[in-house]
Amino acid sequence: MNIKLTQNKNGSDVSVDLITKDKLKTIKDKKILDLAGFTAEQDTICFLHEKGYLACGVDDESSDNTRSVCSIAIKALKSAKYKTASFDVDDQNIKAVVEGIILGGYEYNTYKSEPKKTTLKNINLVCKDIKKLQNAFEEAVIVAEATCFTRDIVNTIPEDIHPETLAKLSSELAKENNLECNILGEKALKKEKCGAMLAVGRASRHESQLIHLTYKPKKKAKKVITLVGKGLTYDSGGLSLKPSTSMVTMKMDKAGACAVLGIIKAVSELKLDIEVHAFVGAVENMIGGDAYKPDDVLVTRSGKTVEVRNTDAEGRLVLCDVLDYAQDKVKADYIFDFATLTGACMVALGQYTTGVMGHSNTLKHYVFDAANNSGELVGSLPFNRHLKKLLKSDIADISNVASKPFGGAITAGLYLDNFIREENKGKWLHFDIAGSAYTESPWDCNVYGGTGAGVRLMSSFLKNLL
Ligand code: BES
Ligand code: ZN
Ligand code: ZN
Repeated sequence: MNIKLTQNKNGSDVSVDLITKDKLKTIKDKKILDLAGFTAEQDTICFLHEKGYLACGVDDESSDNTRSVCSIAIKALKSAKYKTASFDVDDQNIKAVVEGIILGGYEYNTYKSEPKKTTLKNINLVCKDIKKLQNAFEEAVIVAEATCFTRDIVNTIPEDIHPETLAKLSSELAKENNLECNILGEKALKKEKCGAMLAVGRASRHESQLIHLTYKPKKKAKKVITLVGKGLTYDSGGLSLKPSTSMVTMKMDKAGACAVLGIIKAVSELKLDIEVHAFVGAVENMIGGDAYKPDDVLVTRSGKTVEVRNTDAEGRLVLCDVLDYAQDKVKADYIFDFATLTGACMVALGQYTTGVMGHSNTLKHYVFDAANNSGELVGSLPFNRHLKKLLKSDIADISNVASKPFGGAITAGLYLDNFIREENKGKWLHFDIAGSAYTESPWDCNVYGGTGAGVRLMSSFLKNLL
């Protein structure tokens, strides 16, 4: 699909019109729309085919409502027989329209023997002043396409994306986008003493990989950012095996890694004046004679020992080693980790919201602003000293699960906090994307599968950082 800014509707065979209830009163086709039962209710649409016209209902002109209805419109357009559609845009709605079209129109057809066909080839975004909108348009396309890049990897099956292929894909991204790339296989991970990460991947037929990509701007970097992603290419639960119904969808346990790759792709294409380091712990959590066990005590890279009480709480075991490595390698202004870490996060915040944890309220507020700006949803989950005590172990320095079942998203965040060095406490935030990274039913501009959670949020945060 070609999407471009133009100054006229020439050549389009259907034009899309966003209509509020107020605007509906004044519209010239009001009578026909009335007959069709169109009331401009949010997210409803009505085709007037003989006029090449698609009416779309919106409650108001907000970005959220615009993005949402454009996602519905693009799906309808893709199932009709038009070739070129036009949308009216201005500096207020351009970003939301582009996101609605690209993200709402996203499909993942890799494994379909006959992908759905569509005649829709071109989208014309009609505006008064191309020059004025060009920048915003290009930025929105870069971020939306990076989000689709993330979705594609999340949606790829575990037979095709395992730690080694994720490393290969990362090095290809590095080549294409001029990033530095350093990859540690198991031999190097042993040298680095990443005992927790290596234990999780031990029963897999694929070698665990620690991937490090770096983007350096042409000008002097104004800030240095470290991103860390949980890259469980499959989470069977290990010997604490998941029930069969919970195991389905666990190809998405690599979504944190995929988000981090999408973010560095977006930053490098936006050419932001910041240095970004993306660290990914790519591991497969499997069962077998060589599997790590509940009762094991692991020595992490930091030297702290961990009692394994549940092999399904594996993400934190991978992340604690990657976070420790990242803090050694890079002196960053901010450290953000992204992980599908806990089912408990979904219980706390619902499926649509990313959980944010950390010590700095100022930093969290910047993230809330970025969330409002980007259309992603985030909610803060507060640390406290009582929950922290639940991670005590009688045999090791810390346990990998809390001794009580409540507040599981927070105790997972607190586990990670144990591996954040004193000087970095105020620079670090943990993002639990367990709910927001994947969906089995469409919502907002998300369709079935990976959503790309984190990419729009961080692109907005990093763009407005300076
Ligand atoms: N990858 C899962 C968390 C998850 C669950 C993500 C559902 C997305 C959807 C994680 O590794 C896990 O299994 N966590 C356990 C932790 C528990 C054993 C303390 C969980 O959430 O049940
Ligand atoms: Zn798990
Ligand atoms: Zn997991």
